[in-house]
Order: sequence, then structure tokens, then C-alpha cells
Amino acid sequence: MISFHDVNKKYLDHSFEDFKKIKVSDKLDFFERNDRIYDVLFSQQFKRDFLDTLFVLGNKIRLISKTKEGADWLRTLLSNKRGMLYFVQPSTRTFLSFCTACQILGMKTAEVRSMETSSEIKGESFDDTIRTFSSYFDMIIMRHPQAGSAEQASFALNKTKRPVPVISAGSGKDQHPTQALLDIFTLMKSFQRVGGLKNKTIMMVGDLKRGRTVRSLSYLLKNFNNVKIIYSSPKEFKMENDIKEFLKESNIPYSETTKFEEMIPEADAIYMTRIQDEHDKKRGDSKKVSISKFTFKEDHLKILKPNAIIMHPLPRRSEIELSVDEDPRAMYWRQERNGMWIRAALIAYIFRLENKILER
Ligand code: NCD
Repeated sequence: MISFHDVNKKYLDHSFEDFKKIKVSDKLDFFERNDRIYDVLFSQQFKRDFLDTLFVLGNKIRLISKTKEGADWLRTLLSNKRGMLYFVQPSTRTFLSFCTACQILGMKTAEVRSMETSSEIKGESFDDTIRTFSSYFDMIIMRHPQAGSAEQASFALNKTKRPVPVISAGSGKDQHPTQALLDIFTLMKSFQRVGGLKNKTIMMVGDLKRGRTVRSLSYLLKNFNNVKIIYSSPKEFKMENDIKEFLKESNIPYSETTKFEEMIPEADAIYMTRIQDEHDKKRGDSKKVSISKFTFKEDHLKILKPNAIIMHPLPRRSEIELSVDEDPRAMYWRQERNGMWIRAALIAYIFRLENKILER
């Protein structure tokens, strides 16, 4: 693995507070080694050729693992590595898909799932906790309630003599970069036979203000030509200005509406999300907002385009009626499974295994 000597030292005199203030697009090299992604923290890190590589790699891993012989071979690839799953915020899918992605590649894992069972409760600093993980593990995959924490972990480790790659599995309400990868993988796969994402309209629905998945996915759409976005939400949960600014700078057309049903026939992909009430300033605040109009109902299938897909990062509450699951355009269960393949592809890429896998 690459040593800390390769990290761009110009940042290492900074305090984390100063480093954090640098615009993401101006410090991407800090999270790379030899022009390759090393720490995975922001969707802005992902360029088109990287997405294409991951797409091919994820599909290849899926195909290889169909036979026992193939699955056994995949498990030899990282049998000498250990991964730390540090998930101190609730998670089912992201945790399990990372765990199974590690298993697919033969990487051993250990987990900390609550700050209560970690020495943080004894007053250990975050940086020391992370450094401890790097003493035992070759990669840290982390989900944390606080925005910026994965970046802090990367910054702290890159100052030590034993940095290991950090993958953010969700960081506060800010970013969820690997969810964006699986969402793009799902979109690319679904539209593979109908001209790709080009000229497609993606409608994102629900709590756009506090949903990190829709934020991360919005950033990624920069990599595709002529994609249009429709943001559909109650006015209380509108997409934040920083993302809208980014879209303007990137010439990605978007519109905002409080109407959902009316826009269904326009969309090629509908991305439903739940209300993120864990971020309410006062408990129960979200209940004051009416969200009944932002539900995908069975009846809506009649006005949905024949080639359109319905997505959801899950967990679902009442955003999609259960009967919709039977429709072939309901993509969320496959989307969930895609998370495992794309995360295996990402880990393989970070450990520079893509040629070995693709040549098989
Ligand atoms: C999302 C998350 O955690 O941000 N879930 C996930 O990772 N699949 C979406 C959500 O919790 O609503």
C-alpha cells in the first residue's frame, strides 16, 4: 500500500478547522494517491472514467461470483487485509452491503456500532480512536452522525505514518458518496439499452433538505450529458442552495416544484426519499409538514413512462405503496443489492485489483 510520504504535504501544516474550510473541489488531490482515489468522502471526487470503471468492475464481480470456483477465487484477493466497520449511526443496508462486499473479496472485518462500546465513552478523542483502528486494520469504513467526520478521520490519518484508506458510509446530513455510486450504477444499468442517462429526467422527491442521498446523487449527475433534474418536495424540505449553486455552475438544468403527481409523466427515474426527522431541531417538527402528496401510489403506475424506474435508498416508510413493489419498474430492491456489487468494486479499486479482476 502507498505510504503517507505520497500524500500532498502542502495541506499537512493546516489545522483540520482550516483544512475543512477549503472548497472540496480545491483539495481533491489530498484524498488521492498517484492520481487515484484513496479516501472516499465526497461525490465530487468521482469522474466519469472512474464511474465507468466501477460499473464494469461491479458487473464483473457479480458475474464471477455466480460460480463457486469464481467466488472462491474472489475471496483470495484480499484475504491478507482487514477492514474496520465503524458505524456509530443506525444502518442496515449500508452496513450489511459493506460487510458482504468485504466478504466477497475475502477481507476480514470487525465492527464498532456504537460510541457507547468504544473508548470514546472514556473520553478518547475522535482522532485517537481512528488512529487506533489504523493500528489494526487496512481500511476504515465509517458512518457517523456528524458531518465532516469522515474527512476528519482522513485528515488525522494522513498526518500519521500509518494512514489507511477511509470510506465514508454516510456523514451527517451532508454526503453519502457510496450511495450515490450505487444509485448511478442502478441508473446506468437500467438505461443501458435505451441510450444511457443522456437526455433523461431524474425526479428527486421528499426531504431534499436533509437527505444526504439526493445531495450526493445531484453532484454525480455532472458526469452525464443533458440530464435534467426535478426536485419535488414540500416547501419546508426544499433542496439546499449549495447544491443548486453547484448545478448552475455545472450547467445542469433543474426545476423545483411542490407538485409531485403532475410531474410523474415527465420523469425517467423517480427517486423517492423519506422524511429525515432524526434531524428535527425540535422533536416532532416534521409532523407539522404534510407529506401525503409525496407518496408514489399504485395508481401512479398508469401515468409512469413504460421505461421509467422507481428508486428509493430505503428504508421506506409510506413513500411508496407496497403494491408498487410488484411492478417491473420498481427498482429499489435491485438498487439495494447493487450496493453490494458496487461497494465490492470500490474496495477492489482502492486496493488496485481492477485489472486482475477484469482480466479473468
Ligand atoms: C439512507 C441514509 O442513511 O442516508 N439510507 C441508506 O443508506 N440506504 C437514506 C435514509 O436513511 O433515508
